[in-house]
Amino acid sequence: MTDFKTIQQAIDKGSGKVHLRGWIYRERNSNKFRFIVLRDATNIIQCVIKKEEVDERLWDLSVSLGIETSVEVTGTIKEDKRAPTGYEVDVSDFKVIGESHSFPIQKDQSAEFLLDQRHLWVRSRYMTSILKVRHTVFQAFREFFNKKGFFESHMPMFTPTSCEGGSTVFAVKYFNDKVYLTQSWQLYAEAVVFGLEKIYTIAPCFRAEKSKTSRHLSEFWMGEMEAAWMDLEAVTKNAEQLIEYIVQSVLKNNRQELEILKRDVKPLQKIKAPFHHLTYDEVLEVLNSKDKLNITWGKDLRTVEEDALMKHFDKPVIVMRYPKNTMAFYKPIDPENPKVALCFDMLAPEGYGEIVGGSQRDTDIHGLIKSLNKEGELLKNYQWYLDLRRFGSVPHSGYGVGMERIVSWVCGLDNIKDSIPFPRTMLRKSP
Ligand code: 4AD
Ligand code: MG
Repeated sequence: MTDFKTIQQAIDKGSGKVHLRGWIYRERNSNKFRFIVLRDATNIIQCVIKKEEVDERLWDLSVSLGIETSVEVTGTIKEDKRAPTGYEVDVSDFKVIGESHSFPIQKDQSAEFLLDQRHLWVRSRYMTSILKVRHTVFQAFREFFNKKGFFESHMPMFTPTSCEGGSTVFAVKYFNDKVYLTQSWQLYAEAVVFGLEKIYTIAPCFRAEKSKTSRHLSEFWMGEMEAAWMDLEAVTKNAEQLIEYIVQSVLKNNRQELEILKRDVKPLQKIKAPFHHLTYDEVLEVLNSKDKLNITWGKDLRTVEEDALMKHFDKPVIVMRYPKNTMAFYKPIDPENPKVALCFDMLAPEGYGEIVGGSQRDTDIHGLIKSLNKEGELLKNYQWYLDLRRFGSVPHSGYGVGMERIVSWVCGLDNIKDSIPFPRTMLRKSP
């Protein structure tokens, strides 16, 4: 059997005979030479086919190779400072595995065209670099919680109720009934946490977001944690450590990808806990005095306000204690100020918006019933959830991290759609 090396292994080896396989990334012809840049999952490498050194059949075949043809290549690798990754393979033999003619993607095509061709565009160095960073972000999330003794735990995607309010749920036919695609694992996590105490997940979430912003997907992945005995201060501290851990893991593991993406790493190097902490009231003070905005107390912060605020900071900001009446039903009132809830959002610098949302959970059954009634929810749908307050309830808290928002931020992307292989938004459901 042929001993194929990855391109990176071949580069690390640096000399001698190598067998490679991959796809033609770029090609250039002259009368005597054919330069092919070969790519695989690990890297790219320049290969040269010399007319004088190969037989006529191979030379003629080499002239017909189109972009994205898959090939096996045998040759001798050596250092060559002029080549894109510093090494070159002098080809002695190659074999076409899958032909490719008139590959539709060329340079400088519109974002919409690339989204239509996403099934082919996912091979690009741009997309594979993002997907490698995404891999690190997911791994780092799991590592962080595994090291702290959390259990990974999974909740249903089909749910009879909403978690974050009914305006953004997707209803689906469920046999002869109707259910919703989950907006968050949280309500179920609150049940399991009274058994396992510390749990986490990364799972798809669905929101029928009508907003066509560069930050919203209708299907996205949320990393969530829930922990018994944790209060608001403890849970925000945990979130801070997590975000530092993820960003520093990407800096450690993905230098090459960040370079390909032309991401300036300096702002990311500053992402070390502690972050800035502000209350909602303090945020209004900044916005109304420094930015001369005129926000009345009680309004939820939208993208414009978040962006204005974040112009003043180069580390994430944790905004705590939002007005209770704009918040999801499970967020408890602050006993020291009943107008606000014991909750927080974490906002990313550089204009990437809300990356984390979390809170202490209301353990007061009367408070919960009042909030559910106010939202017009049917109490009978929440009886199981209310049971959690009837049988040995304890203080507990949790949060959710928008995994694509993190990937967008650390990669420095213009649009969240590039942070996931096949994005789903209000206007896009294919390929
Ligand atoms: O702030 P959210 O809505 O919080 C919850 O769903 C809680 N139940 C989580 C919890 O406490 N376990 O969502 C959490 C995060 C947001 O901060 C944001 O980063 C991301 O999920 N997010 C989205 N990301 C992409 N597209 C969307 N449409 C998103 N909606 C929320
Ligand atoms: Mg939120």
